[in-house]
Amino acid sequence: MFIQNAWYAAALSGEIQREPFARTMLNQNIVMYRTLTNQVVALEDRCPHRQVPLSRGRLVGDELQCWYHGLRYNCSGECVNIPSQSTVPKGARVRTFPAVEKYGFVWLWTGEPDKADEASIPNHWVCSAPELAGTMSYCTIACSYLLGIDNILDISHAAFVHAKTLGSLDIVQTPPEIVINDNEVRVRRYLRREKTPPLYAHILKLDYIDRFQEVLYWPIGNTRVETRAHACDDSSGNVFHVYTTTIFTPATDVTSHVFVGMHRDFDVDNQRFTDFTAKEVFSTVMEDKDVAESLQANWSPTAPMIDIQLDRPAFAARRILERMGANASIRAKV
Ligand code: FES
Ligand SMILES: [Fe+2]
Repeated sequence: MFIQNAWYAAALSGEIQREPFARTMLNQNIVMYRTLTNQVVALEDRCPHRQVPLSRGRLVGDELQCWYHGLRYNCSGECVNIPSQSTVPKGARVRTFPAVEKYGFVWLWTGEPDKADEASIPNHWVCSAPELAGTMSYCTIACSYLLGIDNILDISHAAFVHAKTLGSLDIVQTPPEIVINDNEVRVRRYLRREKTPPLYAHILKLDYIDRFQEVLYWPIGNTRVETRAHACDDSSGNVFHVYTTTIFTPATDVTSHVFVGMHRDFDVDNQRFTDFTAKEVFSTVMEDKDVAESLQANWSPTAPMIDIQLDRPAFAARRILERMGANASIRAKV
């Protein structure tokens, strides 16, 4: 069971144009498009006449015309035209979803519309901060969004899954400080004299660094890894900040949308560098996708499982979601 009363990242802003765009979220088929005045509209992707996906239709001005018999729906989801008759039956409409663009994403509210408060849109300020450089990418993974959150909250996997990019055994061997609040989980590590992981070596051009890393999770599927790094024992105040944002939005029970990207506060005018880091981050996500999809495919609800200490943050995140009404249980308990 998904949490309905929440804002979910539905698309990168650039994905939604003047063409009907289909996306499945929380097991619901949704069609999005932009009006002539650039507003994003989100409707249920199902014509109430004979259930054809409206995303196969076309825009006529700001109205969406069904592909099959040409019924037209306005931005409020009301059927406003039936080509074969002069009247529109009462109640002929499709469901609409509140849609807001913020931080470079389209956010959709999937629950009761009168509860949609824009102030509760997850704060992904790094994705649109003018002082930072970076880009966001999109992909899908064939696993539950919960497995994506688990993956980020135990970053020790980097030493194994991302050996060629982010990997550092120091991460595994440094016990984290774990901070669990009612609505967020933080996992902090301070790594001294760390051999600079390959990806950061490209960025920082240092062989060894002191690095503070904080992984932040908050509902529903929002995560950000913040890294502050500087040359070892450098007290000049010359600190590099790198923020890696990963947002998981459930598509179905066992498939998810992933929005991911890295932003930095140095060398911000270097577009080639931005492109390079985007590519590198995307390769690490492909490694995560590989492991998470293999896990999902291998999953047996009755197989025995063990827990380790580093599972604690992921358990905490799942408890937050369970308190909010999601089915986020893991069989084994810490
Ligand atoms: S199914 Fe959409 S108009 Fe008939
Ligand atoms: Fe990873």
